[in-house]
Amino acid sequence: MPHFVSIADTPSDTLRRIFAQAFALRARRERKESTRTVLLGKTLAMIFEKPSLRTRVSFEQAMNELGGHAIVLTDKEVGLGKRESVADIARVLSGMVQGIAARVFEHAKLTELAQHSAVPVVNMLSDYSHPCQALADAMTMMDEFCPGQTDPVALSGKTLAYVGDGNNVARSLATLCGKCGMNFILATPPGYELEPQFIDRIMSQVPGMNFETTHDPIAAVHYADAIYTDTWVSMGQEQEKQERLRAFAGYEVNDRLLAAAPRHAIVLHCLPAYRGIEITDSVMDGPRSRVFPQAHNRLHAQKGLLAVLMGE
Ligand code: CP
Ligand code: NVA
Repeated sequence: MPHFVSIADTPSDTLRRIFAQAFALRARRERKESTRTVLLGKTLAMIFEKPSLRTRVSFEQAMNELGGHAIVLTDKEVGLGKRESVADIARVLSGMVQGIAARVFEHAKLTELAQHSAVPVVNMLSDYSHPCQALADAMTMMDEFCPGQTDPVALSGKTLAYVGDGNNVARSLATLCGKCGMNFILATPPGYELEPQFIDRIMSQVPGMNFETTHDPIAAVHYADAIYTDTWVSMGQEQEKQERLRAFAGYEVNDRLLAAAPRHAIVLHCLPAYRGIEITDSVMDGPRSRVFPQAHNRLHAQKGLLAVLMGE
């Protein structure tokens, strides 16, 4: 069963097909062509243990535009592993819908869903990774650096500098950058790096990947084509907020940091953004920001993903 739980476990050929579909479906939408036969009569069940704007709306709208239907369930009603075992939920949903998507705290719940599901399972964010976000991020960089290309290896040789927390978004993005032949530079405060086991894993999956880590954000952006940041306090870390705000002081993406980057470098953020904390208004709303086209690409990336997983 072709699930989409991580970028690492998704074969390169499947990734290529997802991007090809995403760009093709976006072009058809721009031409106002209907795509309502792609997933006609198919249903996606979506389970949320955490809040969402972009992910929920992009998946629901993607199903709608592809002729299918989405059922949105909160964890309050489903109780993943609480009201009912994760395995039983997967077994029940598999007999009723054609796809299951979940946003969870513990990543293990996603792998367990996938293990027991007879229909594709999609990771809509876990504490460990956010692979759907990385698809939209790559589309946005392709729009900028290799417009018209649909194979993400066209990004090969480009450099992404991620400034901030070594978190779920950073893991998926680093993996996708590696698979595309991009250089990935991670600038975090001490103690907030990605764990060595992750780096070992990515280096074994993408031998020869240029993955650099530093504590110096200014040095990190020196050769960057894209600068990326995310919240310093992810969902579920609210009790660490004060400690994190202190640790990350100096890692804000602001005009001073941009001045140290090449003039063509663009700025990305998965959103939601905490303006005035990890990113300034001047950068978010400035000419180098691509954060809103990036958010809109979530819809197109989701359509490509769903078309490949549930349509082919
Ligand atoms: N970037 C992202 O996943 O946003 P939401 O949390 O609003 O879905
Ligand atoms: N790292 C953030 C991403 C939100 C889309 C979080 O997990 O809260």
